Amino acid sequence: MNILFLVESLENETAGNLANELKYTEHNVDIVPYFSNNQDQCSIKNEHGTDVLIFDEQTYIPENYDGALLWCWGTAALGRKYLRIFEDQGVSVLNSTYDTEITDSKIQFATTLAQANAPVPKTICFDSNDSIDNISIFQEQLGKPPYVFKPDYGTQGFEVRFAFSAQDIQLFAENLRKIQAHNHGFIVQEFIGDPDIVISHFRVLVIGDNVLPGLIKVTAKSKMNVSNIAAGGKAELEPIHNELKKVALLAAKSSKLNVAGVDIMVKPGGKKEDIVILEVNDGPGTKTFDRKGINASKAIIDFFIDSLESQKPIEKARQIVTLT
Ligand SMILES: Nc1ncnc2c1ncn2[C@@H]1O[C@H](COP(=O)(O)OP(=O)(O)O)[C@@H](O)[C@H]1O
Ligand SMILES: [Mg+2]
Repeated sequence: MNILFLVESLENETAGNLANELKYTEHNVDIVPYFSNNQDQCSIKNEHGTDVLIFDEQTYIPENYDGALLWCWGTAALGRKYLRIFEDQGVSVLNSTYDTEITDSKIQFATTLAQANAPVPKTICFDSNDSIDNISIFQEQLGKPPYVFKPDYGTQGFEVRFAFSAQDIQLFAENLRKIQAHNHGFIVQEFIGDPDIVISHFRVLVIGDNVLPGLIKVTAKSKMNVSNIAAGGKAELEPIHNELKKVALLAAKSSKLNVAGVDIMVKPGGKKEDIVILEVNDGPGTKTFDRKGINASKAIIDFFIDSLESQKPIEKARQIVTLT
């Protein structure tokens, strides 16, 4: 089989681990680091009515590929644009770009999960044009402060802020307008947990109908700090409880993702009804699991190759039906 690995850059441990696992398969793997040196390295060209990808003066034609997968951390919209030309021309993908464009937006994701009756923190969404005129709304809908402010688009704790008043939220929203030319949308959530205790969350990796046997608990470096690893959070491997597993699978299935890193928090009670989903990540980091001996990169690549291989006989069977 021919597989295309679209990756933001290879200067990243997760990207390197996944690339190595792909190389260990007996298949032909083409790797396109589409955003190396912080610059877009690709373009799309239309050849005889078909979109093709150009990278390093080479042409990547969708019909030559059986499968394509995308890994990115800061350039999701660009990566999706490139993956989509393959997906639209029938190449199998790990997660569909039509689903990841929804999970990438915190506003659209919150709406999707609420519709699926999945447990999420109480959330108010503000799109780019909304103004915060009615400041009593926060107390009425979210309870007492602090509140959590998050831009519609962001990863690794980017611009996630803690607000103690509507004025704080106003300031964060104004700041967002200054630093992001487009997409001024944001969400405001109830604070999960006790603000006097250092924040921690759980990262569960869902692969198909399964979850990895261990989860990563990430604890922030100090109080009122986000617990992302990129922000200095400390990661520990823990066994996964059945309830967390069920919620992680519900989050991935409701978002239609085959592979997802699900971020979960548990309110102080620690009971089943205290579990909430923060977000799902479609190209989750594997390096922390790999380092701790859980081999997430291998599990993801094995899953993808198996799903491509199991599709082949189905396609062949359909062809035979058409021919006779
Ligand atoms: N509702 C919340 N209550 C308390 N802390 C939160 C809440 N939402 C997010 N956080 C903190 O902010 C971090 C980033 O939030 P998250 O929704 O995962 O966005 P990102 O995409 O930036 O990782 C979380 O890992 C957690 O530490
Ligand atoms: Mg997160």
